[in-house]
Amino acid sequence: MAIGNSFIDEIKSKVNIVDVIGREVPLKQSGSNFKGLCPFHNEKTPSFMVNEQKQIFNCFGCGEKGDVIHFVQRFNNMEFMEACEKLAEEYNIEIPKYGTRRKEDLSRYYEINSVAARFFFDNLTRCANPGYTYIRKRGISDETIKHFGLGYSPNSWNSLYKYLQSKGVSDDDMLKLGLVTQGKKGVYDKFRGRLMFPIFNTRGKVIGFGGRALGDEMPKYLNSPESEVFLKKNNLYALNFTKKNVSDENQVIMVEGYMDAISLYQNGICNVVASLGTALTENQCQLITRYTKNVVLSYDSDSAGIKAALRGIDVMRSSHANVRILQVTGGKDPDEFVKKYGKQEFLKLVNGAAPATDFTLEMTKKKYNLSDNLEIIEYIRSCVPILKKLGAVEQDLYVKKLASEFDISEHSILTEIASDESRHSSPYPENSRKAREFKNDRYGNDERLEVSLLYILTRDTRYLDNFKEDDIEFRTVLGRELYNIASKLISRNGMAEINIDDIYKELDTEDEKALKDILSNIRIGADESSYYRECYVKYVQMHYGEKIIELQNAIAVAEKLGNEEEISRLAMQLQDIEEKRRKVR
Ligand code: UTP
Ligand code: MN
Repeated sequence: MAIGNSFIDEIKSKVNIVDVIGREVPLKQSGSNFKGLCPFHNEKTPSFMVNEQKQIFNCFGCGEKGDVIHFVQRFNNMEFMEACEKLAEEYNIEIPKYGTRRKEDLSRYYEINSVAARFFFDNLTRCANPGYTYIRKRGISDETIKHFGLGYSPNSWNSLYKYLQSKGVSDDDMLKLGLVTQGKKGVYDKFRGRLMFPIFNTRGKVIGFGGRALGDEMPKYLNSPESEVFLKKNNLYALNFTKKNVSDENQVIMVEGYMDAISLYQNGICNVVASLGTALTENQCQLITRYTKNVVLSYDSDSAGIKAALRGIDVMRSSHANVRILQVTGGKDPDEFVKKYGKQEFLKLVNGAAPATDFTLEMTKKKYNLSDNLEIIEYIRSCVPILKKLGAVEQDLYVKKLASEFDISEHSILTEIASDESRHSSPYPENSRKAREFKNDRYGNDERLEVSLLYILTRDTRYLDNFKEDDIEFRTVLGRELYNIASKLISRNGMAEINIDDIYKELDTEDEKALKDILSNIRIGADESSYYRECYVKYVQMHYGEKIIELQNAIAVAEKLGNEEEISRLAMQLQDIEEKRRKVR
């Protein structure tokens, strides 16, 4: 999508990647490339290549590659726009103006939050107060308090309110940021008598707060509501402080709680972030994998923690991270553990952390009594869905492990996997070119849906217009092929119904077999038209859902660029698509 393209194009055209990288990494010409020691992993012989012609770099050792902006991002731990701005400054490229109203709003919000954070900090550190007693009792030093900017919200209804008012902050802004709450008789402080944890984004701006009760009051942690500057799903607590440690160590310890992060940090384990108490989100995974692919999930050892870890593993899978699970033994959470046993013992746990798949299988195993053969069978069956999600090499490894553990043949496990798979996956012969294409297809499992959808077309060709109106693109190999054939047949013959045999005639034998296979598995039921409708709605909803996410992302970038024109253009598109999606019911 074209966002702020002219700015980015200008950077790419003015900046030479060889110069930019050459300043940081000694490079030697080698044929048409430049070669050096990779700054992103430890190596003794150079496998890091820079191609001047294509303006890209590529490390054959660690796989890091990209364009000049990507290099600057990775090298300096910057976000995309930060990297662009850095390059723009160095090369005298005009940075698009931020002077739009919206941009001002955001910086005003950051500023207000930061004034509040300073207020809480002063309250914690300037004179005796229950917050200070509490945090010191938990073993947190003055230095750590300062580093993380911890604070105390006085136990009063309006101390922050009065303070912000004296600084000229409007009620409206305070409400929008969730610093105060609207009551019947006016507004009052949201956080009262709590230990305050300011939450920063990776650019170091205060976006929200977590406030811990000092006693048993509920909730234990009160958090800022989501606001224009605070989206939980996009942020990780402490990452602003630890991003350098994370990328230097090429590993991150991801914990659940604010206190876990702070306590590990204080004990010298600085490559740590906390997931802000929510289930790990895809955006959080994407954010962290910008700094490292090696993620150690260190959640509480209770059942909620285990559940969260299992969910986290699944979310992480799509970002191709190497996930390990650290189980804290002898302490309920990382904070307690590290306080009791110290850094070295915790590092032992880190080093012993189990690969995600081992952990998942282990947890599954606990549900079965393995002295009973029938339960062994049940256990292995329940491993099948886990094994199915793995890449080929990993799957191979765990099939072997499982087979030897129970002294059964690998073949029998593979058969279970295959029979489980035949229901939703590639209808092509194993290892054929099409099977591989199918596997590589990001939407492999949608194939059945696409075929079902296209089957509708053979029964009622008026759907072709619907597809066109909704701008549907078929994504699977077979889906696209069928769509093209169907459109061709319709435009040629103007038919209201297509004979499926006419379609078969146009397909090669492999596709024909695949199609027959899928069609024989589709259960349409008595009411054909409602089946069609259902498929159609499901597909279109999905299609629009993705478009909407794409547009929202593009708008976020345009907002960063302060490109008002682009924002309103995209916003209009977004409205349009949301409207369309509402109509498809
Ligand atoms: P925990 O209940 O495990 O607390 O919640 P903790 O981090 O160990 O806190 P301490 O050690 O008792 O002080 C883990 C995280 O879940 C979120 C917070 O981010 C917390 O750090 N949480 C928890 C909330 O947002 N609200 C709550 O009421 C509880
Ligand atoms: Mn705790």
